[in-house]
Amino acid sequence: MVNISFKEYKAWDAPIRIFHWINFISVISLIFVALIMMYKKELGISSIEAKIALKELHVIIGYIFVINLLWRIIWGFIGSKYAQWAYIFPGKGYIKEVRSYIKSISDGNPRQYIGHNPPGRLAISIIMLLLIFISFSGLIRAGTDIYYPPFGSYITQYIASPGGDSQSLVPYNPKGTDAEKVNHLKKIKKPFGKIHKYSAYTLMLIIIIHIIAVVRTDIREGGSIITAMFTGTKLLKKKPADLEP
Ligand code: HEM
Repeated sequence: MVNISFKEYKAWDAPIRIFHWINFISVISLIFVALIMMYKKELGISSIEAKIALKELHVIIGYIFVINLLWRIIWGFIGSKYAQWAYIFPGKGYIKEVRSYIKSISDGNPRQYIGHNPPGRLAISIIMLLLIFISFSGLIRAGTDIYYPPFGSYITQYIASPGGDSQSLVPYNPKGTDAEKVNHLKKIKKPFGKIHKYSAYTLMLIIIIHIIAVVRTDIREGGSIITAMFTGTKLLKKKPADLEP
């Protein structure tokens, strides 16, 4: 009988795991609501009230997503070792690490990591960047479209007709607004909508690649990396490449 001994390593602390699953659930919910927003006509949703309600729902889930992301960004500076940005973002020595990783795979003896493997580090960095783009553009559109915080009050103050009450403005209702400024705002908000949509499409593609890569790595190299996102612990056969002496 072959005797393979596994060793347990603490990879992901509790805040990382909580972030991951809140992020996962909020992204799926945001995609679900966004799809209804995009296909509302086909779904027979035509009233302006329903259109606003859908955007409100998307934005409220969006706040959970943004707060969770902000917390993760902070945790990347103060959290445990493998939560740190220094261990995630490609920096000094990254290319060398990628080469060693690729060589270990072609030699049939893939390196194992407690944190992310080199391609995983790149994927997480791109995902984080996209999440930031999506958050910022989403918050801008939340302000311009339905006057929601944090930018909504600046928007209403800008588009209110001179001497009018900015607090009484209602989304998608021109009453009390300055037509010229509303037109100007439309031009400004358009690129943010594009950034938001295309970043969301790119994110969806990367999420699919990420899931396929994680499942493949778990099957090919072991390490129980999927279970580790629930338990925090990886079970590795080899000495991890990112274990410091
Ligand atoms: C991963 C997270 C997110 C995904 C995948 C996503 C996806 C999308 C998509 C595909 C649309 C286009 C819908 C349409 O054209 O009708 C959209 C619109 C919108 N999203 Fe998000 N979104 C996310 C996060 C957020 C966040 C965090 C906020 C703000 C708190 C937000 C606010 C908005 C707003 C206001 C719109 C309407 C803009 C428009 O009509 O073009 N989204 N979102």
